[in-house]
Amino acid sequence: MPLLSLTNYKCFWGTLSAFTLCFIFIANSTTLQTTTTPKPCNDPYKELNLILNPNGTVTRLNKPPQSPPSPDPTLPNLVLSKDLTINQSKGTWARIYLPRKALDQKSKLPLIVFYHGGGFIFLSAASTMFHEFCFNMAKDVVAVVASIEYRLAPEHRLPAAYDDAVEALHWIRTNHGDSWLSKYVDYSNVFLMGSSAGGNIAYNAGLRIAARDDQDYKIIKGLILVQPFFGGTHRTSSELKLANSPYLSLCTNDMLWKLSLPVGVNRDHEYCNPMVRDGFEGLEKIERLKWWVLVTGCSGDPLVDRQMELVKLMKNKRVRVVGHFTPGEYHGVQDKEPLKAKQLYGVMKSFISELPSQD
Ligand SMILES: *[C@@H]1O[C@H](CO)[C@@H](O)[C@H](O)[C@H]1NC(C)=O
Ligand SMILES: *[C@@H]1O[C@H](CO)[C@@H](O)[C@H](O)[C@H]1NC(C)=O
Repeated sequence: MPLLSLTNYKCFWGTLSAFTLCFIFIANSTTLQTTTTPKPCNDPYKELNLILNPNGTVTRLNKPPQSPPSPDPTLPNLVLSKDLTINQSKGTWARIYLPRKALDQKSKLPLIVFYHGGGFIFLSAASTMFHEFCFNMAKDVVAVVASIEYRLAPEHRLPAAYDDAVEALHWIRTNHGDSWLSKYVDYSNVFLMGSSAGGNIAYNAGLRIAARDDQDYKIIKGLILVQPFFGGTHRTSSELKLANSPYLSLCTNDMLWKLSLPVGVNRDHEYCNPMVRDGFEGLEKIERLKWWVLVTGCSGDPLVDRQMELVKLMKNKRVRVVGHFTPGEYHGVQDKEPLKAKQLYGVMKSFISELPSQD
């Protein structure tokens, strides 16, 4: 049985003829018939390979490799990187990536503020997988990247990560002491970006920054949400169809929310389900601020229905949103397959470079 059919392949909605980014819409998956019985799951700590310590912290038994930054310009790296403290009391910091060619050129580059994935619970800006992702993103997109170390759940449940994400942007805007940022960043061309849980953080940080009275929102040009991690109590068709996906099963999904949402709320909380409050006031503010939003996803991700639903909600709110959905693949594909990451950088580069410089 054909699981998905492409109903719609079109270029960006007409008003900007210069804008050539095309996107694919996958057929509304309510037409899908296949569902899988979700694997039962009970103990979140066991499922996620965590040990709950008596003091309330967790020990993460999987220890993925980490990489150091490489700030030395005499080494033959195409991208330099260094770590800067944001808030010592919270242990937050940023790893800044600077394409070497920026050192020779006079022009300033866009800044991508990146929030890594890991279900709000795992991984770090120092994780080798994200270090390589950001290194290659800085090189291919030709942008400065600031990859943010934020506090993790369950030690620090949401909204801690959003608070850190917002604080990071404020720190970036007001950090005139750092020469890489002050010399090479075009502060009218800043994007909040994240993949998976990082995409959720970029979205929620964006809503918060848009609603604040300080000047931080002024430097943001848009949001880039790569396979953003959202949920809800009601199961979507894509979640049911891909319930036991080896990359993100429904069980894992539920456990991640259980350990990261505030205690006592369910998945229909606004942090998890952007539809519950209709995106609340934040989306209207984002529309008024004329931010641009890119949402990417793929039909092999159980979360694809929610991602497409968010694109629809934003369109209804007249937010300038581009959905880029591809057939097949899986949740986190860009972290595992360099070729897929490279394709994503291409999509991002077109998105960023083809936006009008002024409105
Ligand atoms: C909590 O307990 C763990 C494991 O015993 C330990 O490694 C960690 O340092 C403790 N953390 C705090 C904040 O006491
Ligand atoms: C760091 O975080 C603490 C705790 O949230 C806050 O009170 C403090 O103002 C922050 N420091 C800076 C320099 O922003």
